[in-house]
Amino acid sequence: MRDKGRFPHFMIKEIFEQPQAVRDTITDNLSPKTGRVELAVTRRIPRDASSTFKKITIAASGTSRHAGIAGSYMIEELSGIPVDVEYASEFEYGNPITGPEYLTIVITQSGETADTLGAQRLAQTRGSRVLAITNVLDSTIAREADAVIHTQAGPEISIASTKAFGAQLVALYLLAVYLGETRGTLSDEKVSQVVKELLALPDRIEKVLAQNDLCEQLAKRYYKMDDFLYIGRNVHYPIALDGALKLKETSYIHAEGYPAGEIKHGPYALIDEQVPVVGIATRDLSDPQSVLRAERTINNLREVKETGGRVIAVATEGDSEVADVAHHVITVPKAPELLSPILEIVPLQMLAYHIAVHRGVDVDRPRNLVKSVTME
Ligand code: AGP
Repeated sequence: MRDKGRFPHFMIKEIFEQPQAVRDTITDNLSPKTGRVELAVTRRIPRDASSTFKKITIAASGTSRHAGIAGSYMIEELSGIPVDVEYASEFEYGNPITGPEYLTIVITQSGETADTLGAQRLAQTRGSRVLAITNVLDSTIAREADAVIHTQAGPEISIASTKAFGAQLVALYLLAVYLGETRGTLSDEKVSQVVKELLALPDRIEKVLAQNDLCEQLAKRYYKMDDFLYIGRNVHYPIALDGALKLKETSYIHAEGYPAGEIKHGPYALIDEQVPVVGIATRDLSDPQSVLRAERTINNLREVKETGGRVIAVATEGDSEVADVAHHVITVPKAPELLSPILEIVPLQMLAYHIAVHRGVDVDRPRNLVKSVTME
């Protein structure tokens, strides 16, 4: 995995390794006998404790924090436990309310990020148990955590985190299902259904990867732009955040992620034909809340288009309404609302990659950045 193989850069290779990273992370945390979620948590947080935490705080940085935001929707929805998400650097220098009845989760690809290590140590000094979700099992954060879920993404070389992010989202979803089971908020039937949907993910990611050429065409059209806006609602909002971060850190283009409903409170003033808007407008037709959210986001995109902005939409395959409000549509396969983010981020990663290539920057080693920020 430390070789580019047939790919010109590690970033695109790692984007294409996501089906395997997701498959391995799922397999590592499912019981082969029962097919139920059985977290391969090294060292353990007692199962009974899992049913007593009154609140969860997630602390992380960058892309890992975006995974944490998506995870907060998953955990609250499936287990009913309230979740707060903090920048690790803010948590570490704040005065967080935490203690034995709180679970702290730190998320970190490298397991060496100084801010996240500081947050973990602060939480532990205040009596909170810490669960680390990390891609490097022999890292400092993994060694010091009370328990670890290991994302099975394999070594991630490119500074832009892609396959580790997909594996983090899967790990958080599996944790949410586990917590739901231990707290009795998920029926056996629901657990069996979600496990089936999880197992279908790798093939669905492969279908999204097949649109790599479309993403390259879009990159050719928009790589000279200086500003981008990414919008999404609810569990799709952190995907807008990470799509923007991927573009920012690989192409040096100013890009911002916003909750879709927020653009009228200021960002709308930015909109013109020079500011492409990437909107995540997928919908799970079996979930009325998801359908409602998508309708609201589609309205936002309609207004952007009417105002003269350029709209690139991510939509669920078969959804013809989005085509009316977008200049370009990238589709993802149907999936439950809480699993769609794992599919939606893939075209945004490919778009950022191809724009970076067209801008001639060092895609795997963007200026000023390092893979693991071990100094505060
Ligand atoms: C992600 O593409 C960036 N390279 C950066 O934001 C990264 O996610 C952040 O530095 C956190 O790194 P970690 O996951 O190793 O803690």
